Amino acid sequence: MRIVKTPAAMQRLARIWKQEGVPIGFVPTMGYLHEGHASLMRVARRRMGPAGKVVVSIFVNPTQFGPNEDLSRYPRDLPRDLRICRAEGVDAVFLPSDAVMYPGRESGTYSTYVVEERLSSGMEGGARPTHFRGVTTVVAKLFNSVLPDLAVFGAKDWQQAAVIRRMIADLNFPIRIEVAPTHREPDGLAMSSRNVYLDPEQRAQATVLSRALKECRRRVARRRIPAAQLRSEIGAMISACPAARLDYVEFF
Ligand code: PAF
Repeated sequence: MRIVKTPAAMQRLARIWKQEGVPIGFVPTMGYLHEGHASLMRVARRRMGPAGKVVVSIFVNPTQFGPNEDLSRYPRDLPRDLRICRAEGVDAVFLPSDAVMYPGRESGTYSTYVVEERLSSGMEGGARPTHFRGVTTVVAKLFNSVLPDLAVFGAKDWQQAAVIRRMIADLNFPIRIEVAPTHREPDGLAMSSRNVYLDPEQRAQATVLSRALKECRRRVARRRIPAAQLRSEIGAMISACPAARLDYVEFF
């Protein structure tokens, strides 16, 4: 498995593969990998076939964190991440530094960002106003480095996947996107690198999210119910958990 540290080196490798007609599947991550990420790697491998290449990026992207968010304490464990990638048969790990991804950002000369203007406002974008600008910018930069044919994202970050799908279409990236199912712990909690922040009490209460989703499904299957009513009932169910702070409940 190759470790590639700069966009230029990644592009060189990707171009060699492309000249050989080898398809490239890509899984972008911020590391601290878990079974959910591994399942995305497996999807990429299945779609690319044994002769194709699978690239995983590990980069904790500073531009998608707000000023008071968890950038400095975001969990990291590179040796373990690399072991997981190796076990999944990943061909290359793209591991850029902040300095190569955003040269001049500290001094203020870095000044180009990608902004999706419709789907990224509201929901997660309402609670985190600069988040999606950071995501679209870094994903565009990662695409330009890895030159993938297919990029695989997790359904857990549903709005992120919708924003990236839009960006791919609007900016004519020649890349297919696949959104793979959410992986859950046995008690229903969606797997996430950030679950490590939860103390045992919060961890137990966090299952309210999957319980709330199941409850929605149950109620909708039983009878027609106005979205506003369901939203307020489900909101109340989540808010009843002392550790929960509800940002939004939305249906599509
Ligand atoms: O979903 C994530 O882990 C990140 O938002 C992504 C897509 C890797 C961009 O930093």
